[in-house]
Amino acid sequence: MAEEMRLQKFIALCGIASRRAAEDMIINGRISVNGAIIRELGSKVNPDTDIVSVDGKTITAPEPKVYLILNKPKGYVTTLKDNFNRHTVLELIPPDLGRLYPVGRLDYDTEGLLLMTNDGDLTYRLTHPSHEISKTYLAVVSGIPSEDALSALRRGVVIDGRKTHPAQVILKKKNEKNALLQITIHEGRNRQVRKMCEAVGHAVLKLRRVAEGPLRLGDLPIGSFRHLTEAEVANLGGK
Ligand code: URA
Repeated sequence: MAEEMRLQKFIALCGIASRRAAEDMIINGRISVNGAIIRELGSKVNPDTDIVSVDGKTITAPEPKVYLILNKPKGYVTTLKDNFNRHTVLELIPPDLGRLYPVGRLDYDTEGLLLMTNDGDLTYRLTHPSHEISKTYLAVVSGIPSEDALSALRRGVVIDGRKTHPAQVILKKKNEKNALLQITIHEGRNRQVRKMCEAVGHAVLKLRRVAEGPLRLGDLPIGSFRHLTEAEVANLGGK
């Protein structure tokens, strides 16, 4: 529920006029609240329940922008609906936060950092191919990639008939059977990390996104979300 606020503040919030100009509009009898002209500057309105009109036309405040990161569990799709009735990430976000959309996608089997927002401009900018931000993944792969395989991944490998852009690839750990790779890419092609690793002969057994541009997954529990800080939003270029 929104808080009550002064009428001139609400008019400014709706982008109609500055607070000062809104005061003049009130004095001049151009503003009505619930059908009655209001000329007192001290009047308050509740944006959720009062209907405010300027020259007879109802005005509404824009939805506040929401930005959050979810630690997506495996077994969820990032599309808004699924033909196979699988769980969607929207089920993990309380509906009172409004309609939020995932920025980019993560596979059903991939877990980790998923940015969600109602800021369509930011979504467009972050997912536009000319300006894809970096994404870092931790991948457990079968077998131990050789130095040659790691260099091939770094230089680019052909998947779906097209070479991938240069990537950062670090072998973080290994045992007799598996290796843990940290892979940073700047593209967002379909199942890209899985296909890159397969192209050099190593199936991905587990995949988690741990960073996207300035955002870090940190120790956010799986299935939980947190709102971005103001600094994170500014660094992404939002609001
Ligand atoms: N690469 C993949 O293969 N899957 C993802 O979900 C993300 C990147």
